Amino acid sequence: MRTGLLVGILLALHVSLGANVYEKECVGCHQDLDVGIDKFFYRYVLVFSSEASVKAALKDYLLYPMKEKTLLPEGLVEKYGIKAPWALSEETLEEAIDTYWETYTFIGRLK
Ligand code: HEC
Repeated sequence: MRTGLLVGILLALHVSLGANVYEKECVGCHQDLDVGIDKFFYRYVLVFSSEASVKAALKDYLLYPMKEKTLLPEGLVEKYGIKAPWALSEETLEEAIDTYWETYTFIGRLK
């Protein structure tokens, strides 16, 4: 019982921490772009389909962004330029990607 409660609290903390990083870092910066962050997500799902591959591909791109790896059409990359590599820890990146995944797969299931 005690352990269950503790695990619950830790899990809630973990999720809200990830949500904060996602909102602040990812959405915060993407707000200035005229293509929604959700469009980028669906491109990754279309190409990589499974949860594990989508997350791995996102992590790889966000850590080491380069022209050879982008899934965006030519024009968009020219317009925005290749983004800067993730500046925070790998752990916070994984949390943010989990939130990104949960945000759009949840909305997807409601439609
Ligand atoms: C400092 C600003 C900034 C931050 C922080 C940022 N992005 Fe981006 N992101 C961009 C820009 C600019 C592009 C378009 C250029 C590119 O693809 O490299 C982009 C592209 C992307 C793409 C498409 C990648 C591709 O194939 O080209 C995805 C997916 C994405 N961002 C998701 C995220 C997620 C998730 C986070 C947080 C973990 C995040 N971004 C954080 C600015 C940012």
